[in-house]
Amino acid sequence: MAREESVEASRLLQSFERRFLAARALRSFPWQSLEEKLRDSGSELLLDILQKTVKHPLCVKHPPSVKYARCFLSELIRKPSGDSVTLSESSAIISHGTTGLVTWNAALYLAEWAIENPAAFTHRTVLELGSGAGLTGLAICKMCHPRAYVFSDCHSLVLEQLRGNILLNGLLLESDATAPAQHPGHTTHNTESPRVTVAQLDWDIVTAPQLAAFQPDVIIAAGKAGISWEAAPRHNQKLFPYEEHSEMEILKLML
Ligand SMILES: C[S@@+](CC[C@H](N)C(=O)[O-])C[C@H]1O[C@@H](n2cnc3c(N)ncnc32)[C@H](O)[C@@H]1O
Repeated sequence: MAREESVEASRLLQSFERRFLAARALRSFPWQSLEEKLRDSGSELLLDILQKTVKHPLCVKHPPSVKYARCFLSELIRKPSGDSVTLSESSAIISHGTTGLVTWNAALYLAEWAIENPAAFTHRTVLELGSGAGLTGLAICKMCHPRAYVFSDCHSLVLEQLRGNILLNGLLLESDATAPAQHPGHTTHNTESPRVTVAQLDWDIVTAPQLAAFQPDVIIAAGKAGISWEAAPRHNQKLFPYEEHSEMEILKLML
């Protein structure tokens, strides 16, 4: 980025930071300048704005009202993304010792299956194992109307990127489900969007009672998991640009 552009971007970030931390009216934010800047910078700038606002350490410690944060995120996400899913991810298949910082074909395939079979998720609590960058879950949250969605992974960097991607897509995160018993499960929820939580969960060591505490109606995973599964019929529709010839199957968990 040229020096002049970088100065402009820092001014814009500072402007968002100050207004957000002061809980100023949303109409006073420089949305117009943001829109212009986004034409050149894309989702990097949105991530920086998240860091300076809802993910700012002060804001994490003393959060604004849920309504304020939700309206802010809705406004922010309306700019570039609409119904699409926007992701920050690594360009390497393995980085920082994990495969979870990049979206796998399996995530696209499962998201596509979910979009074709929304009834499997509608008004249900979904627990996803090994969520990685979050593509599958975000597509389900946006298209399939689950009641609650628990993203999970075992790797702390993956979890951090995942939280960013959830916010980037205008979903409001409940406090982390590190203690599953606190998860809202089947309590009523008065908005259209699902209750979204992120849990640190290692499928190699998680116990049945710990899983049950999430009160999931459906458990899904894209990619490999050390669990026994049974093949379900393949689907044909192709929404996403994954490789046509890669071998993928939808597998049904066997208990
Ligand atoms: C191949 S990636 C798939 C990520 C995502 N589901 C996708 O399809 O794009 C596997 C994911 O599982 C996570 N993972 C690996 N071992 C795990 C374990 N024992 N418990 C939970 N998650 C694990 C990794 O951190 C990574 O995010």
